Amino acid sequence: MSRLIVFSNRIPLGPNPSGGLVVAVGGAMKQRGGLWIGTRHAPDEPQRDQMQRHPDGPFERLSMALDDAEQDGYYAGYSNSVLWPLCHGRVDLLDMRPEFFNSYISVNQRLARLSAPHIQPEDIIWIHDYHLIPLAQELRQLGVSNPIGYFHHIPFPSAPNIAALSEPDLLAQWFAAYDLVGLQTARDVASCIEAFRSLGQCEMMSDGTLMHKGRRIRVEGFPVGIHAQSFRTLAENNPAPRVLTASDQVLAIGVDRLDYSKGLPHKLRGLREYFRRNPESSTRLSLLQIASPTRESVSAYQDIRDELEGLSGEVNGDYGDIGYTPIQYIHRAVAREKVAGLFRASRIGLVTPLADGMNLVAKEYVAAQDPADPGVLVLSRFAGAAEQLECGAIMVNPHDPANVASGMEQALQMPLEERKARHARMWAVLDANGVDWWSDMFLQRLQTDRPSRWMLDNQIVA
Ligand code: G6P
Repeated sequence: MSRLIVFSNRIPLGPNPSGGLVVAVGGAMKQRGGLWIGTRHAPDEPQRDQMQRHPDGPFERLSMALDDAEQDGYYAGYSNSVLWPLCHGRVDLLDMRPEFFNSYISVNQRLARLSAPHIQPEDIIWIHDYHLIPLAQELRQLGVSNPIGYFHHIPFPSAPNIAALSEPDLLAQWFAAYDLVGLQTARDVASCIEAFRSLGQCEMMSDGTLMHKGRRIRVEGFPVGIHAQSFRTLAENNPAPRVLTASDQVLAIGVDRLDYSKGLPHKLRGLREYFRRNPESSTRLSLLQIASPTRESVSAYQDIRDELEGLSGEVNGDYGDIGYTPIQYIHRAVAREKVAGLFRASRIGLVTPLADGMNLVAKEYVAAQDPADPGVLVLSRFAGAAEQLECGAIMVNPHDPANVASGMEQALQMPLEERKARHARMWAVLDANGVDWWSDMFLQRLQTDRPSRWMLDNQIVA
């Protein structure tokens, strides 16, 4: 089997790495071994022309140190103040500055230059996430002709949004250096093909691929999965604290990064509407909302905390009672095993993003349930996970508080038999399309049907 080299901005370094990407890709790496290369913010590290090797563990790891200017320009800047809002439909939040773009390109160039000597002719290369989209083009320019795949974990932007970039033609050019581009959903694949065609950047070929200036782009959907069985076991082994389960309250749970794409204020407005409509309900519903801090150096993230705290204070003031808090809001990360137990103890999983590549929280909530008495997933139709989980979730539109409130009512009134049937349908999807299925499928497709040689700027890379 060829050696796998994975690239991603973050690599797992601590004892308990978290984050959807690291958990998902970590599964493939543990299974087959290989080399994982990424970056690390280390402003005091003088050595910039060498990567650090991290010994021990089931696979090799190398990291390239970023200084403060790169962390600001490449990570907080172009990645998270341009590409992230762009891909999540928030062009109003774009912060486009030439220095961000220059830093993004130069970090990708330096990573390519430092990594190229570690690449052997038989290796296959898998690059992840929006931080590193130009990396394949940089590697090709250094003569790397190995199979290179890219997986885009977040939504693909629409044509009008791409047109808002200062460099709208680059995305197609960067994609054209890959043998395979993976997106999360059929909706993303359709919007990618449509965007590149309507912007006049690519021609659609009869085999469904795109052609960009003589180079072919293959775009396919691979919905990222989870290890459903091991998450279920984690939930069984970590029961929630009795204070949460022994009361007369029914628990709903939300676990999100405190990101504007997650629709957190929309979730609370939906809940406020539920309480307004059900003031006398005998079911005392309480939402446990874990909102972990994220990207706090990016200005677009600074207002959302105030908005959320204002809303939860208002709902608690209006609908709370002695010994009863409608919204328990926690602004910090909570350990994965604790979250698993909390999911299992919650009658409702409330997931309301306005745009989301997949949303693994939705999948983990389903996996954690007791099949004999499962909770109900209330899911935004804008999460990538909706394509697979609409077979069992209650689908809602987070922009419409009345619709979210109706979803909550339906979930709370749902009889046991219906809960079981819906859960069984979703479990079957999760079980059949787990994280190993995802990585195996992608790597298999990457190695089939690739062009025999690469042409870059009229130069043939054999
Ligand atoms: C989200 C995305 C991932 C991405 C991560 C980066 O979770 O879905 O694709 O890797 O954000 O988060 P970070 O904390 O590194 O900015």
